[in-house]
Amino acid sequence: MNQLDLKNRVMVVTGGARGLGYAVAQRALRSGAVVALWDIDAARVERARVELSELGSVSAVAVELTDEASVEAAVQQTVTAHGAIHALVNSAGITGGNGLTWELPVDVWRRVIEVNLIGCYLTCRAVVPCMIEQGYGRIVNIASVAGKEGNPNASHYSASKAGLIGLTKSLGKELATKGVLVNAVTPAAAKTEIFDSMSQQHIDYMLSRIPMNRFLMPDEAASMIVWLTSEDCAFSTGAVFDLSGGRATY
Ligand SMILES: NC(=O)c1ccc[n+]([C@@H]2O[C@H](COP(=O)([O-])OP(=O)(O)OC[C@H]3O[C@@H](n4cnc5c(N)ncnc54)[C@H](O)[C@@H]3O)[C@@H](O)[C@H]2O)c1
Repeated sequence: MNQLDLKNRVMVVTGGARGLGYAVAQRALRSGAVVALWDIDAARVERARVELSELGSVSAVAVELTDEASVEAAVQQTVTAHGAIHALVNSAGITGGNGLTWELPVDVWRRVIEVNLIGCYLTCRAVVPCMIEQGYGRIVNIASVAGKEGNPNASHYSASKAGLIGLTKSLGKELATKGVLVNAVTPAAAKTEIFDSMSQQHIDYMLSRIPMNRFLMPDEAASMIVWLTSEDCAFSTGAVFDLSGGRATY
């Protein structure tokens, strides 16, 4: 593992209780960062905090990212505990299951947009003023190759991730002269617990589209994401970084 220097940097990882967010937190702690895990699953995020504490300073915050007041409270709790927020990794997300667009329940479609897109908007909205004030920040949004290509049987998920790419590009330009860089990554499938919410047919479809013919490993995603939160990432903003094993063509 190459060394990155995140000493004295405070990183918020949404969805940090498990999966890609957990791997990001692990890698960030090993690079010297202080990490705040934000997740809706209070018991699981506390368990993650206990497990990761052996690597460094880590706190757990129970938060519902679609609720503005809950997000504001999470920012206050984190700043009180750690003094600042230098990096925000938006990893929390849901799939909403699989189905044809006209057969997916309307409330499920809306919920996917709420969590994957509006949740990220709310965290960015709440954290960006702190970053502008300190003249430094790094935001990484975990989108998906589905947002570039549109996966069949996942129109809600694909639309939410396409929206997240648009948010990243707009916000990156707005903050380009303020020391705050905003980027997205677009992973192909990684075998995390998110698979439990997808059909086997859909999982097989996603694997069949990856030229490397294997799933992304969470550690591989964490390497790129944590680099994007570091000072080494200095002249990239509003950009979309590929993690698709050769699937994406742009
Ligand atoms: N794993 C993959 O195949 C894959 C591929 C491309 C993109 N992604 C994206 O990467 C991100 C992480 O995926 P993962 O595989 O780690 O998923 P995961 O299901 O393992 O973890 C997601 C975490 O988000 C939390 N969460 C969900 N809704 C929330 C809410 N409203 N408020 C707060 N926390 C909430 C969950 O409790 C969970 O801990 C997601 O945005 C996902 O869409 C995943």
